[in-house]
Amino acid sequence: MKNDLKNILAIETSCDETAASVLRGNIHNAKPSFKFLSSVVKSQIEIHKKTGGVVPEVAARAHMQNILPVTEKALRDAKLKLKDLDYIAVTSGPGLVVSLIVGTEFAKGLSLASSIPMLPTNHMEGHLYSAFGKLSDKVQFPVLSIIVSGGHTMLVLMRDYKNYKVIGNTVDDAAGEAFDKVARLLKLPYPGGPEISKLALYGKTDINFPRPMLSENNFNFSFSGLKTAVLYYKDKITGVAGKGTKRNLTKQEKADIAMSFENAVADVLTKKTLRAVNKYKCKTVALSGGVAANRKLRAELAAMCKTNNLQFNVPDFELCTDNAQMIALAAYFNLRSGKKPKAASKVKADPAWEIS
Ligand code: KG4
Ligand code: ZN
Repeated sequence: MKNDLKNILAIETSCDETAASVLRGNIHNAKPSFKFLSSVVKSQIEIHKKTGGVVPEVAARAHMQNILPVTEKALRDAKLKLKDLDYIAVTSGPGLVVSLIVGTEFAKGLSLASSIPMLPTNHMEGHLYSAFGKLSDKVQFPVLSIIVSGGHTMLVLMRDYKNYKVIGNTVDDAAGEAFDKVARLLKLPYPGGPEISKLALYGKTDINFPRPMLSENNFNFSFSGLKTAVLYYKDKITGVAGKGTKRNLTKQEKADIAMSFENAVADVLTKKTLRAVNKYKCKTVALSGGVAANRKLRAELAAMCKTNNLQFNVPDFELCTDNAQMIALAAYFNLRSGKKPKAASKVKADPAWEIS
């Protein structure tokens, strides 16, 4: 077979990380074979800590400042020049529109200047494929993939790398959003998810928070009721301002809430995943998205997979949250599936681009 190793530069700016990565992979081999030549992530956490969350215009401005040095470093680390690239992949949705525009327009400029074709790539597909960064040639299909990020909670059935179908979604808040909102209730710093996770380690008493939609006969999720249950529980302990005396939560009370909330989320996600695995006779569970960095969730799913004799795929911790390596990987698998590149003039940021 002719040597069809291709170099893909990927750029990611959908929220608050400016990232670039280079992947080299063989497109036409029967089995996927690729390696990452570089991966650079410039986090904006310190900037957004000051406001307790992401202010889109502030994020976009930081992307503008970072995108060129981050991309240059990704090329330098890969020991490649622009002319050595075969494709330029970019996250063009979903995400914050002003953030997406920075990466997308930058990639379009690079493509126009170099005549390198573009691969507009979906951010959720990036998370989806991120779970296959290592064992991709040994994966046993069908795969039940669970993606838990700041904006999405999804169950995806994968028959193979080319064919997937979203079988469950959140009807309101995503799991990551619930982590962030509960963290705010507990007055923890941004980003909330990892802070809840750290605090949960000191929890002693398991408060029986609700397991939303666990008994419903579908694969959808809802986390806004759980967040409200945490709010009511907290108000019951501390009192409400203007109605008698109000006090702050103790450190132990906060830790108990964090642990119990985390238990409830992990419980719902694990049990619904198992139900879908059984229905579709899956052989593998793949976990991805920012909340996949949560130790409790990883442990619960790993234990469930062990009990049920399933393969369990999860990215390393640093590849759960947003990065460009996962975008390069999604673009690579799309090329292998026969997806054609697009002319730069046809590419535009699409903040509402959902996979189905
Ligand atoms: O995938 P991601 O980086 O961005 C989106 O695509 O949304 O996910 C970010 C989300 C945030 O809600 C963050 O709080 C959550 O992932 N997160 C965690 C942990 N690390 C990040 N949630 C729970 N435990 C963690 N260790
Ligand atoms: Zn993400």
